[in-house]
Amino acid sequence: MVAIAPLDAALGASVEGVDLATPPSDGLMRALTAALYRHRVLVIKHQKLDQESYLHFGRQWGEPIPHVADHMRLPGYPELMGVGNTEDKDRADSVRLGAALWHTDQSYEKVPASATMLYAIIAPRAGGETGFADTVAAYDALDDETKARIDGYVVSHLYGAGKRRDDEHEPSPLITPRQVGQVPPCKHPLVLRHPVTGHKALYGVGQSAYAIDGLPDDAATRLLWDLKEHCIQPRFRYHHKYEVGDLVIFDTFSTLHAATRIGIADSAGDDNARLNWRISVRGLPGVHRHLAA
Ligand SMILES: [Fe+2]
Repeated sequence: MVAIAPLDAALGASVEGVDLATPPSDGLMRALTAALYRHRVLVIKHQKLDQESYLHFGRQWGEPIPHVADHMRLPGYPELMGVGNTEDKDRADSVRLGAALWHTDQSYEKVPASATMLYAIIAPRAGGETGFADTVAAYDALDDETKARIDGYVVSHLYGAGKRRDDEHEPSPLITPRQVGQVPPCKHPLVLRHPVTGHKALYGVGQSAYAIDGLPDDAATRLLWDLKEHCIQPRFRYHHKYEVGDLVIFDTFSTLHAATRIGIADSAGDDNARLNWRISVRGLPGVHRHLAA
C-alpha cells in the first residue's frame, strides 16, 4: 500500500510502501508524478536497487542525461553519476564540494533537466545533506509589481557562471576542452511555466545564470542575486539528511537545491562516507508525454 505524506517542512513528501526493484506500473507512476508536482520533492524510503533497476526507474521520468563531467559517471552506466567522498577523484575539494551551491541541474544546457534523483548507497554521519528551495512558492510570494516587471525576462546561462555567496563552493570544474565545448552559453526564461502543472516558477536563479537580455550587467547580477536570496529563505526550504535506501527525486523546474559540505572519508567503512547515485532526466515522464508540445 503506497503511503504519501507531506514532510514537516515547506516542501516535500515522503513515500512509503513501494518497491522500485519491481518495474513501476503506470498507476504507480501517475501517483508519484502527481505527488512530485504537488510537493516538488519526494523522499522514497527503503529502496534496494541495483544500477539496472535504478536506471529503469529513472527512465520512467524522462530521458537520462549523461553528465558533461564524464569523469564522474559510473563505470558502465554513463547515465549514472557517483556523488561521494571516498574515491580518489573525490579527494579534491572541487569535486567533492562541487554541488555545495544553489543551482538547477543542467540549467547551463539548452534542454535542461526536468527532474533529478539521488539514491543513497552510503549515508554519512554528518554533512552531505541536500537543501531544497521551492521556487514556485517563492514566485507566488513576489509582489505584483515585481512579477509584472520580470515576466518575459530571458536569462543567459553558462556552466560555472554567476555570483556566489561566501558559503557557496564553486561547481565541479570541467576538465577537458571537449567538456567545455559541449556546454556553450544558452538562454532560458526567468519565469518558467511548468510543462505539466502550468505553475510559474523562478527558474535557474542560482549557479549558471549571469545576464538578462536588455538589462545592464550590474542590474542583471543584482536582480538574479536578490531573487536567489528570496528563494532560499527558510520559509521556502527543506533540508534532507539521507538514510541508506532513500531515493530522493525533485522537480528541477520548481526547485533550487544545494549540497551541504562534507569532509573526506577514507573508505566505505568510515562513518563519514557518502555515496549517492544520481540520475538527471530531460523531457516528461512517460505517463505525461502526451502533454509534450
Ligand atoms: Fe545538482
